[in-house]
Amino acid sequence: MPLLSRHLLGLYGVPKEDIQLILDTAITFREVLDRPIKKVPTLQGKTVVNLFYENSTRTRISFELAEKRLSADSINFSVSTSSVSKGETLKDTIRNIEAMKVDMVVVRHSAAGTPQFLTKVCSANIINAGDGIHEHPTQALLDMYSIREKLGKLEGLKVCIVGDVAHSRVALSNIYGLKTMGAKVSVCGPSTMIPKYIEDLGVDVIYNIDEAIQENDVLNVLRIQLERKAREYFPSVREYANYFGITNERLEKSGKDILILHPGPINRGVEISSDVADGMNQIILRQVTNGVAVRMAVLYLLGTLN
Ligand code: CP
Repeated sequence: MPLLSRHLLGLYGVPKEDIQLILDTAITFREVLDRPIKKVPTLQGKTVVNLFYENSTRTRISFELAEKRLSADSINFSVSTSSVSKGETLKDTIRNIEAMKVDMVVVRHSAAGTPQFLTKVCSANIINAGDGIHEHPTQALLDMYSIREKLGKLEGLKVCIVGDVAHSRVALSNIYGLKTMGAKVSVCGPSTMIPKYIEDLGVDVIYNIDEAIQENDVLNVLRIQLERKAREYFPSVREYANYFGITNERLEKSGKDILILHPGPINRGVEISSDVADGMNQIILRQVTNGVAVRMAVLYLLGTLN
């Protein structure tokens, strides 16, 4: 069965069968990444443009690598060196790119809803690589892939998302995806960083991090987004680290073998201590590796729909 939608704008409303299909397809591509020659001809002749209006290390390189591993032609668009700096609108930019016969567009933008907008003004398949504080679907898919790879399932697992939930596109996509896949999802953080509507999404709220560690199988630790004025939501970075930072001391006290994820980039000593970030419970770099396979799966499934 093909995917229901020809775009990946978010995980809201994406059926379980489609998430399952993406995660299962990614297993095959993950094997390709371990081969001496990490390339398949699957998307030969297709052209993908990576339209990044916001900074990125992982997502941008991961998509570019995924496109190259699938033998697609890959174009990188950088705002600072494009005609956006001369005042060109997003609509005109995308129409000009489309006129060059592009098949798929991967877009990151600080404005929520940008990927949705692009579906209205161009005919390429649109993939959301993070839109403002809205969604980051491929991050949630790679998180789910990595949890399933490590623990063997998603259904029935207890997953807690820790930190600035209110301003996190990673949190929202994880909540939609994990709930659809049958996980029990909770959030933990300062009350100023937990949105008021969160319980309407079927998510429990825990305000004490030691309780969150005790009650869950997985912690997905969010970056404190200092560039998005996160400091205004708690008295000081040191206080945040004291109350919500994940440290070895906390993990040892719990006596639990909990799995730790982080989407990156990490703030060492703030939301996660260095000993945890480099320790035995975390799978942070495994997430990054798996991200290439998951993005290959998304590109393949959308690119072969046309
Ligand atoms: N996790 C994530 O989206 O990282 P980048 O901002 O580096 O792409």
